[in-house]
Amino acid sequence: MISPRIHPSILNADFANLASELTRISSADAVHVDVMDNHFVPNLTIGLPVVKSLRAATELPMDIHLMIEDPDTWAPQYAELGCESVTFHAEAAQAPIRLARELRAQGTRSAMAVKPATGIEPYLDMLGELDMLLLMTVEPGFGGQSFLDLILPKIRRARRAVDDLGGTVALQVDGGISTETIQRAAEAGADTFVAGSAVYSADDAASAIAELRRLAS
Ligand code: DX5
Ligand code: ZN
Repeated sequence: MISPRIHPSILNADFANLASELTRISSADAVHVDVMDNHFVPNLTIGLPVVKSLRAATELPMDIHLMIEDPDTWAPQYAELGCESVTFHAEAAQAPIRLARELRAQGTRSAMAVKPATGIEPYLDMLGELDMLLLMTVEPGFGGQSFLDLILPKIRRARRAVDDLGGTVALQVDGGISTETIQRAAEAGADTFVAGSAVYSADDAASAIAELRRLAS
């Protein structure tokens, strides 16, 4: 299994000062960027032009989480910007296998997300097309929500499926990850942890990252 990775989400950062907000998390494993279109989710954030500027402003790998409709059209454009990982939602993709292959062909890690009420079973046969599977542990759209414990069995099922494949697919959780909840998610089998408010509401983001990493280990 992959050693625990912490990906702070800039959704909870100060959007007027994104460059300096990135320097606060330089000890993270990647920066998680939530792209929302106000259609797939009831919230609107940033798109390609801002992500392009962020890419130029940081050395951190970029983990793009697309909460948008029509990822088949848009996801490759994020890959083209040099983002290391691009996650599309299973519920929004027209042709998830084709899209995952297209992302990999562009040299980007292909990743797919599922909302809390979406089962993983229909997607298990395509796990080998992915570099990461994201299990949402809140309804996507907003930071600061409570971790849904009812996702823990799905994390365990996904862990077994990933291990059966040889364990190279990262298993990410996103939503409500904090010092209170990260151990439960890690014990269930997650290895990659998005943390928004837990990192950005801390006075010392670096020690919040270190503490989360320690608890997940
Ligand atoms: C929610 C986003 C998350 C969010 C997590 O839809 O996908 O990445 O920023 O924020 P917290 O960690 O506060 O739940
Ligand atoms: Zn996210």
